[in-house]
Amino acid sequence: MIGVILGTRPEIIKMSPVIRECERRGLDYFILHTGQHYSYEMDRLFFEELELPDPDYSLDVGSGTHAGQTAKIMTGVEDILVKESPDIVLVQGDTNTVMAGALAASKLHVRVGHIEAGLRSFNRWMPEEINRVLTDHISDYLFAPTERARENLLAEGIVDRKICVTGNTVVDAIYQNLDISKKKGNVLKDLDLKPHEYFLVTAHRQENVDNRTRLKEILKGLEGVQKEFSLPVVFPVHPRTEKRIKELGIGVDGLNLTKPFGFLEFLQLESQARLVLTDSGGVQEETCVLGVPCATMRYDTERPETLDVGSNILVGADSGKILEGVRSIAAWKSGWMNPYGDGIAGKMIVMVCAAARSQ
Ligand code: UD1
Ligand code: UDP
Repeated sequence: MIGVILGTRPEIIKMSPVIRECERRGLDYFILHTGQHYSYEMDRLFFEELELPDPDYSLDVGSGTHAGQTAKIMTGVEDILVKESPDIVLVQGDTNTVMAGALAASKLHVRVGHIEAGLRSFNRWMPEEINRVLTDHISDYLFAPTERARENLLAEGIVDRKICVTGNTVVDAIYQNLDISKKKGNVLKDLDLKPHEYFLVTAHRQENVDNRTRLKEILKGLEGVQKEFSLPVVFPVHPRTEKRIKELGIGVDGLNLTKPFGFLEFLQLESQARLVLTDSGGVQEETCVLGVPCATMRYDTERPETLDVGSNILVGADSGKILEGVRSIAAWKSGWMNPYGDGIAGKMIVMVCAAARSQ
């Protein structure tokens, strides 16, 4: 039996191809949702839109401090793994759900498969970097999206036979959903937007939005972009960011702030934007695959492949640099290579897991 552990928006999206493949093959598996994300538009909406089966287990851990959330996830996951005794547990990405789920499983001697293994920003200030490194080192199967990720793992002494380069399941998710998304209404029309005549923004990294100065600089940079280009700036606001903007009482001028969108609507917006500004990991990858230029509001990235192929630049979190960066890439034409594979990562991962069950 395969245990699929997930808990946040990006995990639901990037696990969806794996879940679909388990369903298609009629495998014995269960979904364990930690409840790290719980608001309708960060969680349930994706199960509905992507037509995923309901989780078999929901822990409802909710929000908390890093240690508090991690501890709750670990004890909850442990109870379920003891009951289900799966052959292998799959986790995806770099959240607290991933690290806590992997750690609970490995202590029970349940094999762990880490999807999106080997990403490194080399910045331990990010909670996600700690989660990635720890998860990789306790995993038995490391599903690396690229050769570069594989090299990062080898450089840390992880043995080659544990690593399988699969591409990123985000490509599967895009290929499986882009056409469906085009048929599901027209979000551009609803928002009165014209293709390639708006900017799309997301921002939620702890190191950006929990820091008052940085958050203010980012918002100032975005306002500057809106003024200079006279184009709408659509900004679906992550709940962490919404909370910080409210707490700090920061005024936001000229930006089109909205609720987070579902994946199908977000894909429509992303694929037709003039360019995307973000600090998200998944959005850096998706823009690269969709052929849309991306300005990443960070000083480093664990997705250097996007910089190498020329779909993305790092503009930091300084208002002047953000504007300068946007000026430099606003006219970029796509045509770069997609470094994240051909959309069969989910199938490859499930094939390896199915073989592992019989060992
Ligand atoms: C988490 C992940 C991050 C990932 C992001 C995806 C960690 C350490 N962070 O960050 O790597 O990129 O998810 O979006 O695991 N909140 C709600 N409703 C929700 C979820 C959160 O209102 O459904 C609010 C709460 O105020 C909460 C805050 O957002 O305190 C932060 O949530 P949390 O899950 O701790 O971190 P994210 O910023 O979502
Ligand atoms: N996304 C979405 N609606 C939004 C914003 C983002 O569906 O309003 C999707 C986006 O397409 C990508 C994922 O959420 O697949 C990225 O999640 P997030 O930025 O929260 O996390 P990260 O990738 O940084 O871990």
